[in-house]
Amino acid sequence: MRPACALLALGSLVLTTTGDLSPDVCSQTFNSGVKPGFPKTIKTNNPGVLKAARYSVERFNNCTNDIFLFKESHVSRALVQIVKGLKYMLDMEIGRTTCKKTEHPNLDNCDFQTNHTLKMILSCYSEVWVIPWLQRFEVPVLHCH
Ligand SMILES: *[C@@H]1O[C@H](CO)[C@@H](O)[C@H](O)[C@H]1NC(C)=O
Ligand SMILES: *[C@@H]1O[C@H](CO)[C@@H](O)[C@H](O)[C@H]1NC(C)=O
Repeated sequence: MRPACALLALGSLVLTTTGDLSPDVCSQTFNSGVKPGFPKTIKTNNPGVLKAARYSVERFNNCTNDIFLFKESHVSRALVQIVKGLKYMLDMEIGRTTCKKTEHPNLDNCDFQTNHTLKMILSCYSEVWVIPWLQRFEVPVLHCH
């Protein structure tokens, strides 16, 4: 396998579609010096980041035996790296909602717990790998405390 080639091709694709690639020769030289696949800071309200945060919390809910569902409450930092698709690295907070897992509710409609006994906020670091053309995602890393 030659992952470097895929990274390069994807890197220039992203640069083109975001319009960052200037026709100016100097900036092209500069851009080509940027190593493809280097993690970049991305806005925490970016739609891809929000989706990655939701994938993370779905994974969390799937892997814990809390009666209630947790939902993402705040993404404090987001990085994205091009790795055969996009890999997001997120620092986020998640909170326990009033929705019970057994009711299979839509997370969008779940409110956070206000009851002091049940209220719970966790800080998480997650890595979410999204492969858009395969409509696949994975959450290889998820740490919450
Ligand atoms: C939830 O867990 C099941 C069984 O462990 C697994 O098949 C499924 O892919 C998981 N879903 C998510 C979103 O992680
Ligand atoms: C908060 O939750 C606890 C545990 O379920 C319950 O016993 C208590 O009555 C709740 N308090 C309020 C104010 O709803």
